[in-house]
Formats: sequence, C-alpha cells, structure tokens
Amino acid sequence: FESGALAAIGAVSESSELERVRVEYMGQKNGRIRELQKLVGAATAEQKPAVGRRFNEVRTAVTAALESRQESLQKLAAARAVSDFDVTLPGDRPRLGKLHPITQVMSEFRELMGRFGFTVVDGPELEDERHNFEALNIPEDHPARDPLDNFYLACAEAAAGRPMLLRSQTSTVQIRTMETVQPPVRIVSLGRVYRPDTIDATHSCMFHQMEGLLVDRHVTMAQLKTVLSQFARSFLGPEVEIRFRPSFFPFTEPSVEVDMKWGSSWMEIGGAGMVDPAVFASVGYDPEQYSGFAFGLGIERFCMKHFGVDDIRRFYENDLRFLAQF
Ligand code: PHE
Repeated sequence: FESGALAAIGAVSESSELERVRVEYMGQKNGRIRELQKLVGAATAEQKPAVGRRFNEVRTAVTAALESRQESLQKLAAARAVSDFDVTLPGDRPRLGKLHPITQVMSEFRELMGRFGFTVVDGPELEDERHNFEALNIPEDHPARDPLDNFYLACAEAAAGRPMLLRSQTSTVQIRTMETVQPPVRIVSLGRVYRPDTIDATHSCMFHQMEGLLVDRHVTMAQLKTVLSQFARSFLGPEVEIRFRPSFFPFTEPSVEVDMKWGSSWMEIGGAGMVDPAVFASVGYDPEQYSGFAFGLGIERFCMKHFGVDDIRRFYENDLRFLAQF
C-alpha cells in the first residue's frame, strides 16, 4: 500500500490527478486505507500494538506526501502563470476623456472674442424678472414673459413676491455688467439658457448662447456687422455666408436677426442690434453720451455647422460613440 501510494503521488502532474489519487488511497468511504484498517481490526491482541503503530506510520507518511505534492504543484502553477505573462507586450491604453464638443466650441469662442478685445464675464442661470425682462425693456404684458414660455421656479423668493426663473437668454448678463461697471464696456458671456420649446432637430429646452455687449462713444451698426461677420469667418472659415435681416427686440433698436447659409437655405443663428436707450436708462447710463451694440448667438447652431452634426439632440445624449468623435 505505502509504496504504491507514494509512487502514484510522485507520478501526478496536476492537482486534479492528485485529488483522484488521494480519494483512491485515503478516501473515507472506499479508499484502500479501509482495507489496512480492517487488518488492524483483525489482528490478535498481542499483534495489535505493532500493527496499529505501523498503520499510523503508513497513514502519516502518505498524508504528508499528499500535502507536500499539493504544495509543489501549486508553486509550479504559480511559476507557470508568471512566465505566461509577457512583459514586452504593449499595455492597454487608458481611455482618455475629452471635452464635450460644445465646451470645445465655447473655449474657441472665448479665444476668438478675446482677440477682438472682449473680456469674458459670467452670470447666474437662475434669474429674477428684473434682469431677464424688466431692465431689458420687456414689459409685463409682453408675450415673452408668458409663464408657459419660461421655466419659473416654485421657491422661497417667489413666495416672497420675487419670482425667479431659469434665464431664457444671456442678455441678463448685459444688465448685470452695466449695473456694476461704467463704459467703455466690451464683454462676452457664454452659458446655458432655458426655454420650454418643443424639442426637435434644431431646438432644445436648454441650449447655449454667447452674449456680446459693446458700449462706448459713437458705436455704430457697421461695427456690429463687422464684428459678427469677422467672428463667423474666423470660426467657420472665410467662405461662410452671413446675412442680417431687420427684426425686433425690446432691448435693441434697430434690431437684426443673423442668419447663416445652411445648404441651400438659411439658418437663424442669433439676434443683435443697437442697445435701446431705455436699457441704458434702466442701468443709469447716459444715452446722450453712449451708444452700444449687443448680440446673442446660439452656440449649438455654430457647433452643428462646424462639425457637420444634423441633430441638436446628439449633444445631450451622452452617447460615447458620438462624443468620442470630437
Ligand atoms: N436675447 C436675444 C435672444 O435670445 C438675442 C439678442 C441678444 C438680440 C442681444 C439682440 C441683442 O433671442
């Protein structure tokens, strides 16, 4: 038994085989060790001590051999695993994140407008009616103030008689800037605006605008048109076509809408005009001394044109297959 067991243990090369050998020899139920045990039981009284001692020796020896074989097999497996690891193979590249295409375009806008001498300022997305409407010459009964066309908030300020809303335009920042600094002013402000529009390929209930405001002595409409055309060309290339259409905004007079050539038709990209004297009055600027122009451009539209994206909703779905392309 002993020599057979030790030989079998020495011959195995895998843990599963070793287990099979263990069961064959030492198994509790049918292992060959049972036969040896029977011999011990069958021994006469005076043979018993010697037979019993021998049985114990054999059992200990085989158990020890099983254990040490198990250990060396494990070491072997570990060594094999290490040598299977090829340290010369190139590693997996970590996947780097990227800036969102809108964020990329906004940085470029800031950079371009900086070259035209405009400083970047920020304003809050949560606004009161003074900055979103009143100071912008949008009276109480104007359709733009319809609660159904704005995201009004149910909040403590509202309960206390100061309604708050998510700003519907970045023109709020014109007011906030003129409230705090004296002319000359030359700023842009980029950020989110919110409107409960029906969502489609070119409309979203949240989008981004770049507001511009320039106030100084003798500012003209020609300068406004020059800045906007130059800006569009420097961002989209010299061949981009821009057109200005007469329009109306309560806070500019005269006002224009700005379109960009989009395939065979035109796409509106923003509004602009000469700052209305009523707006200057609401922030305490002297309209006799100063004039200015303002514009508000839709950033997504530029982004779509620039990257050839045909549906604004792609920008907000966070689909990595889309985002990884920029
Ligand atoms: N605030 C206007 C809009 O969101 C755009 C605009 C800005 C028009 C500045 C004139 C001057 O539609």
